[in-house]
Amino acid sequence: MAKRIGILTGGGDCPGLNAVISAVFKHARGTYGWAVVGIRDGFQGLYDRQWFEMTPRDAAGLLARGGTILGSSNRANPFAMPIKLPGGGEDIVDVSEACVANARSLDLEGLVVVGGDGTMGIAKRLMEMGINVVGVPKTIDNDLEATEFTIGFQTAVEVAVDALDRLHTTAESHDRVMICEVMGRYAGWIAMTAGMAAGAEIILIPEIDYDVAAVIRALNRRRARGISFSLAVVAEGAKPKGGTFAVTQAGDATQQERLGGAGQFLAEQIVLASDYDVRVAVLGHILRGGRPCAFDRTLATRFGVTAVDCIAEKKFGHVAALRSGSIVTAPLGLAVKKLKRVSPDSDLVRAAKATGVEMGDGAP
Ligand code: F6P
Repeated sequence: MAKRIGILTGGGDCPGLNAVISAVFKHARGTYGWAVVGIRDGFQGLYDRQWFEMTPRDAAGLLARGGTILGSSNRANPFAMPIKLPGGGEDIVDVSEACVANARSLDLEGLVVVGGDGTMGIAKRLMEMGINVVGVPKTIDNDLEATEFTIGFQTAVEVAVDALDRLHTTAESHDRVMICEVMGRYAGWIAMTAGMAAGAEIILIPEIDYDVAAVIRALNRRRARGISFSLAVVAEGAKPKGGTFAVTQAGDATQQERLGGAGQFLAEQIVLASDYDVRVAVLGHILRGGRPCAFDRTLATRFGVTAVDCIAEKKFGHVAALRSGSIVTAPLGLAVKKLKRVSPDSDLVRAAKATGVEMGDGAP
């Protein structure tokens, strides 16, 4: 029987996951002659024994396709798995031993785990229990310390820029303040990058608490120059000085808190304290869906190939990563040690401020 490897996609979906699956399948099969077992719905499938041996047909036409053909789950944590009770409700159970046993029954050379920080944290713990794991970092949030870019981020930025360009024209036509809220959780990479590319006048990120008075002063400065429209990009994790995150649902043992409403909150503060005509657009999951951009397709392919090579070299417990334009590997621990966030001292923030962007702290 041919040797085989496994692959699963965990956490929220993002553009480029299918491109990783395609690369892993083609390289494993073509270069090493290995079979590839696709595990469905992230760690849920590892627990429920839902998997299938991939065929060339399964891997065909995947590069440009959004989502993940394997499915994903961001609640399926083997260490805190929600299990439905017969009479309704659910129990939170540690099923990690069962997952390890299931993985062993597959007799895999290694398991490629494609995910963000939550998935990588689980992968690290499963590795410590004896599963030979290699990681591929993905998330539109781009908040993994191990790599300069995660799969999905560039596509999310492209989608956000397209939306912001459209909002800018409406802002101008109606002399409005258009606020656009973007995802990114506790990191401001999407807001910062897309906001700068779209020429937003105001960019608020989680890393810099904002003062609404500073935002209004910036609007007033523009109006004094004869420009009475503005575009503001607000990360979902942005919060006012002394305030809290805008949360739509509290987190629990199985999932993180859900953020949302930061844009609407800012709009209400501006309306309360000024006479600006304000509208809010929330991009939400639109940033996560659809076709990956060229950069993400290529990065996904490079990451997927590297993950398979790691298995061939028995270099387990590592993730593929991008550093200074080259693909390297980094310990799984680094991927989960701390979130990579935008530094207020970075050249990115400096360039934004130097070109007149208001970041809410009132600083030049
Ligand atoms: O981590 C990716 C992400 O899209 C975040 O930007 C966002 O806060 C979160 O996932 C949304 O998760 P869900 O799909 O569970 O609503």
